[in-house]
Amino acid sequence: MFPFNRSSPRILWLTIPILGVFTARGAAAGVSLDITNAESIKSAASQIAFDLVTFYTGNNTGDTPGNLPDPYYWWEAGAFFGALVNYWSYTGDSIYNDITKQAMIHQAGKKGDFMPENQTYTEGNDDQCFWALSAMIAAERNFPAPTSPTPGWLAMVQAVFNEQAHRWDTSACGGGLRWQIYTWNSGYLYRNSIANGCFFDIASRLARYTGNDTYAKWATKAWDWTHMIGLIGTQYEIFDGVTDVDNCTSHDHNRWSYNAGVWLHGASVMYNYTTEQGSEISSAWRERTDSLLKATSHFFPEDDIMFEPNCEASGKCNVDQLSFKAYLSRWLAEVTQYAPYTYDTIMARLRSTAVAAVAQCLGGDTGTFCGHKWSIGDYDGTTGVGQQMGVLEVLQGLLAADVGGALTSSTGGESKGDSAAGTGDSETKAELPVMHIDNGDRAGAAIVTSLFVGFVAWAVYGMVS
Ligand SMILES: *[C@@H]1O[C@H](CO)[C@@H](O)[C@H](O)[C@H]1NC(C)=O
Ligand SMILES: *[C@@H]1O[C@H](CO)[C@@H](O)[C@H](O)[C@H]1NC(C)=O
Ligand SMILES: *[C@@H]1O[C@H](CO)[C@@H](O)[C@H](O)[C@H]1NC(C)=O
Ligand SMILES: *[C@@H]1O[C@H](CO)[C@@H](O)[C@H](O)[C@H]1NC(C)=O
Ligand SMILES: *[C@@H]1O[C@H](CO)[C@@H](O)[C@H](O)[C@H]1NC(C)=O
Repeated sequence: MFPFNRSSPRILWLTIPILGVFTARGAAAGVSLDITNAESIKSAASQIAFDLVTFYTGNNTGDTPGNLPDPYYWWEAGAFFGALVNYWSYTGDSIYNDITKQAMIHQAGKKGDFMPENQTYTEGNDDQCFWALSAMIAAERNFPAPTSPTPGWLAMVQAVFNEQAHRWDTSACGGGLRWQIYTWNSGYLYRNSIANGCFFDIASRLARYTGNDTYAKWATKAWDWTHMIGLIGTQYEIFDGVTDVDNCTSHDHNRWSYNAGVWLHGASVMYNYTTEQGSEISSAWRERTDSLLKATSHFFPEDDIMFEPNCEASGKCNVDQLSFKAYLSRWLAEVTQYAPYTYDTIMARLRSTAVAAVAQCLGGDTGTFCGHKWSIGDYDGTTGVGQQMGVLEVLQGLLAADVGGALTSSTGGESKGDSAAGTGDSETKAELPVMHIDNGDRAGAAIVTSLFVGFVAWAVYGMVS
């Protein structure tokens, strides 16, 4: 049953602390780690989190809370704060809670829906949803709550959910969420696994947290469509996307680790929710969870070390892609909580990955910054938010058995919700008029787009003044 129960010869070196690497300056470099010891894991995580936070500038005077500097896109900043909420939840270290809370509240904006004016006209469904994922962790872990009148973490996720459910688009392809929210953004015609997978994930978590089955129906609808359209393959591979241009009949077959992770995560939440409800369909969700878990083997091609096959070996991962292993790591660790029977299988892989990942954190002035190529046995010479966040998530995930699972409103979760958030006129009408572009001519679309942006700017200006 378990897809990867190879008994591992690496168990020997898993327990060897990584110590005593010296730089030319003579200072001890590297991050010391003994994965059999929770305190050692926490101490290594504290170093890696510290280095991660050095990339953040949003709490400097004159900067905007929640933004990472170029070249990081806004969505990655959302993921970054999720990693910090997780860091607090796994280690108990609250040192970054203030900057995290400030950033999430600021970027949630007045309506609490992660559509801040500065991003509104460029953000996609997945961008918005990545911030919602961080708010969801905050709700599930009782992260210190915003004070009224700021909406609670739960209400923020509900706002994003409601807006995205409203965007479900049956004008082609039989349904699905588009990648982009606005017609003028390139990628509007694309319907992809990450936008639909993230929606699926927040819907399943809202169902579990609130007990409101409407969310579970949406999660099922998102699953059914994505499966029907062929983005979930026969071996439960998750392919990247399809396009309106041919009514979603040809597929971008690229497989990325975060797509595999988000669908697995959401399926495990549905398994958990339906099992706890005593529902008959829980066995279907268990089978899906198992099959998706098996399919993640693609991202562990050698030595049980996580790998991004499309770009890692060539060193050509772009800034976004450099962060994908962080999410697969984060989600795998949580799957061990939602579906505890997967623990041994998943943890074996997270352990070997964490050891390899931490061992190559030899970069930067301190000799502790991490690179991206976890399996080569050496530091690859790069630093960045994606690299750093990936190592942090895989490392802290080792503590999954030591902290309780995600809370719900009936097991102590205190986050304040609002099931009607995101359904007002200003949220839904802000997205109109929606143009439907019938052919794939992006150049033509771009010209129409710039005219349209002008029109919208003019209209918004009119509304404001
Ligand atoms: C920003 O936050 C970091 C991490 O908590 C802290 O070290 C730094 O002093 C803060 N900077 C400002 C200007 O508050
Ligand atoms: C939007 O940008 C302005 C100007 O840079 C900044 O003052 C404001 O805080 C930003 N708002 C958000 C939510 O990012
Ligand atoms: C487009 O695809 C959907 C989903 O597969 C299908 O139901 C619909 O009939 C297709 N429309 C056309 C015009 O082929
Ligand atoms: C559901 O998740 C909770 C929290 O992680 C866990 O305690 C519980 O055992 C899970 N339920 C099932 C049926 O696995
Ligand atoms: C359940 O969620 C749906 C969708 O947001 C909402 O319309 C409905 O009012 C909720 N039901 C309850 C009892 O909160």
